[in-house]
Amino acid sequence: MGILGPIKPISRSTDPDAAHRLKPTLSWPHLIALGVGAIVGTGIYTLIGVGAERAGPAVILAFLVAGAVCACAALAYAELATMIPAAGSAYTYTYSVVGETVAWVVGWSLILEYSLACSTVAVGWSGYLVGWLQSAGLHLPAIILNGPHAGGLVNLPAVIVSLAIAAMLMLGTRESATLNIVLVAIKLIALTAFVVLSLPAFDASHLHPFMPYGFASHADGSSTKGVMAAAAIVFFAFYGFDAVATSAEEARNPGRDLTIGIIGSMALCTTIYILVAVAAIGALPFTTLGNSAEPLALVLRVLGHPFASWAIAGAALVALPSVILVMMYGQSRIFFVMARDGLLPPLLSKVSKRTGTPVIVTGITGLFVAGVAGFFRLDEIAELANAGTLIAFIAVGACMMILRRRSPDVPRIFRCPQPYLVGTLAVLGCLYLLFSLPSATLERFVIWNLIGLVAYFAYGRSRSLLTREAKAA
Ligand code: ALA
Repeated sequence: MGILGPIKPISRSTDPDAAHRLKPTLSWPHLIALGVGAIVGTGIYTLIGVGAERAGPAVILAFLVAGAVCACAALAYAELATMIPAAGSAYTYTYSVVGETVAWVVGWSLILEYSLACSTVAVGWSGYLVGWLQSAGLHLPAIILNGPHAGGLVNLPAVIVSLAIAAMLMLGTRESATLNIVLVAIKLIALTAFVVLSLPAFDASHLHPFMPYGFASHADGSSTKGVMAAAAIVFFAFYGFDAVATSAEEARNPGRDLTIGIIGSMALCTTIYILVAVAAIGALPFTTLGNSAEPLALVLRVLGHPFASWAIAGAALVALPSVILVMMYGQSRIFFVMARDGLLPPLLSKVSKRTGTPVIVTGITGLFVAGVAGFFRLDEIAELANAGTLIAFIAVGACMMILRRRSPDVPRIFRCPQPYLVGTLAVLGCLYLLFSLPSATLERFVIWNLIGLVAYFAYGRSRSLLTREAKAA
């Protein structure tokens, strides 16, 4: 066994033993809803403001750059997800293509992606809640609305929403996925109403200067500026489609349903985002957008639509939790699969007989998500989640290309067009976004993975199912 660890045969990933198998209960409408449910969230509802602050009106360009990179990653995902329809997505693909050590790093990064994305959305949700309550004349004490970084004690609404979603997931996949469809509809209607109401107020003078901080990401005092700095944070708005790939093992007809689920949800969301970004930037000066914890509600308020502003905040409140739902679902599955492979303690791969869901792991995830959401800053959490996701996307792009070369004749249900071009663009685009993140984020990310590697060499490497089997043989 080399430094990269053992390679898991693809057939092993797609055929886990029956005792540890998840129930196949999802079909393609569930998967599209799962995708859109995970994609449309705090990224467009809140981080659009942070993006505007970093790039100026060129935040529109930042959305295009991030969207193009994600589209390439989505195509690679679709090919691998249909070839290896097993829970675990990027982690599982890397295990089967490169080897266990790199798969561990990817899995450990995915834990960061999913759990911190949940925390980010919980904090964004809390921002809309506070604005919504204030517009109804209700002012809660600031000490329970912010973490210590903003002079408070804890962001209590963010903690509560995180724990509530974890509890829902423990009750079962199917129920949650069906409810998700309703929430997704609410979210899309709200964004469409936003575009319809704010586009008529489009003021072209708000677009000048278009790129006040230039293109490349650079430190500017205590913040990071430039179109790429904005792209590196609004990248958050685009991911989530990978959560569809993560649920492959629970799809009824993975070949057809996953392709429709991933590509369909991605295309739909990119179109809406560009429209929302153009409408928001045209409506208000970017500096005003950048300062708000609830920028879309603010735009409508300033434009003289108090009811619509109240309604869009209400829609965010009802619907943003669906993102937490899907992301937390994805997270618990990653944990679950890594435990099933022997890399994490076996207790974590236990499926409840009654609900068919991994209850222990979902509970641990909920506590972690709530803890981070309660005490840390929105943009910093989002950036760290992005770093984890970018590593996963790089792995997926690379694995797709390696498999094309290594096993060109294995049947592929979905074939990525121009695989080497698309794969290379995904890998290089993600690397560029990764290095456009603030250096403090990159340092935290490296520390997280060093801790992960220590855990791997101390625990997982010797207990890995594949290693134990190889020794026994
Ligand atoms: N794309 C998801 C969001 O924007 C994570 O909330």
